[in-house]
Amino acid sequence: MSRVNTKEIGVALLGFGTVGAGVVETLQKNGSLLAARLGVRPVLRGIADLDLTSDRGVSVEPGLLTTDGAALIARPDVQVVVELIGGSGVAKDFVLQALKLGKPVVTANKKLLAEHGAELHRVAEENKTEILFEASVGGGIPIIKALREGLCANRIECMYGILNGTCNYILTRMEDEKLPFDDVLKAAQAAGYAEAEPSLDIDGHDTAHKAVVLASLAYGCEVPLDKVNVAGIRGLAAADIAYAAEMGYRIKLLAIIRGGPDGVEVSVQPTLVEHTHQLAAVAGVYNAVLVVGDVVGTTLYYGRGAGRAATASAVVADLADAALNLRSGGRRRDLGTAHAQSPVPLRNPGDIVARNYLRFSMRDEPGSLARVATALGAHGIGIDSVMQQEAPRNAEYVPVIIVTGPAKDREIAAALAEISHIAGVTDRPTVRYRIEDFD
Ligand code: HSE
Repeated sequence: MSRVNTKEIGVALLGFGTVGAGVVETLQKNGSLLAARLGVRPVLRGIADLDLTSDRGVSVEPGLLTTDGAALIARPDVQVVVELIGGSGVAKDFVLQALKLGKPVVTANKKLLAEHGAELHRVAEENKTEILFEASVGGGIPIIKALREGLCANRIECMYGILNGTCNYILTRMEDEKLPFDDVLKAAQAAGYAEAEPSLDIDGHDTAHKAVVLASLAYGCEVPLDKVNVAGIRGLAAADIAYAAEMGYRIKLLAIIRGGPDGVEVSVQPTLVEHTHQLAAVAGVYNAVLVVGDVVGTTLYYGRGAGRAATASAVVADLADAALNLRSGGRRRDLGTAHAQSPVPLRNPGDIVARNYLRFSMRDEPGSLARVATALGAHGIGIDSVMQQEAPRNAEYVPVIIVTGPAKDREIAAALAEISHIAGVTDRPTVRYRIEDFD
């Protein structure tokens, strides 16, 4: 027989948007199951939002709604605060208020964590409480718990993440339906997958916030967001997706986090992934994180990375942890702050070695390709393959794809700068994407 629960943990919900409504719905649907599993029932004491009238598709007692978040946090019958406002403005004030009152905070706010994570963890520590953030990365995928608990015996060698559902949806449709970027973005906006103001997603910043959260946790380093190399998928040409496919690759917006003796690489960029690799199979709005630990080897986490239900699942899981910890008087293991004492430096991006996909628009004249190959060679850059399709007779420029051998980023950049000055060879910008070999 299930244990009957009589105890309650009071919850303040800040932000009644899509995910907030999902949390209310999940508590209504599975509250009894949770209470039976935990021996304590999370009970909503109030929901704060500036908009108290919109229909969120979930019914709540009108008396729960308030516009006064600060008063709700301070109520003595509130023990846990769930922050789902987003951004790093008022959300930060509320999170700090709760932590200073010694109340654990559950948040999905990757921007806040990426920009102010170290400060928030310190305030939590000082006030003997905690900040839980499973929903900040990968939506419903329990990647934070995997890193904090399941993999804590490992040094994390590297992580690769497809962390933005909007971008992955756009790239998948561009490839499958051979459509241009702008058309797919518009369709994604119409279908509600992409925001009306999509730059946070398509310019890679949302992925960068998530990469910073993962890197900080895995390496105990405070990762300065402004030092992360970020490139998004805005304007990516359907032609490059098609050329990559012809060569056996898919283009994914990949977060790359890799430890090494001279520092940690944290970067976000469109990346060619061999089509047989597991990450190449991640399609549509799904997310995946591949984690390599020195003991466990390769592990892969996959699921819905965004949306009301998936994100609510992660928020309520954290709520359950907070409730259990409050009942036991304990706190969860926090590898992030535990080894933050010895921060690992970020790797100089120029030192990173990778193969590259280069698409030159070359003048269709004898010697063009030879001059480009010579310039690459002069920078110690080998050529793995070359692809040129026959151009129409009167075409001024022809696309020539060169896949380089492994080369330092700074050498590639220097060679491309030099090539751009070889008059009459290629006076249009060269397209460049990294190829990840996962070795
Ligand atoms: N907008 C994000 C995505 C979800 O498309 O994956 C929230 O981080």
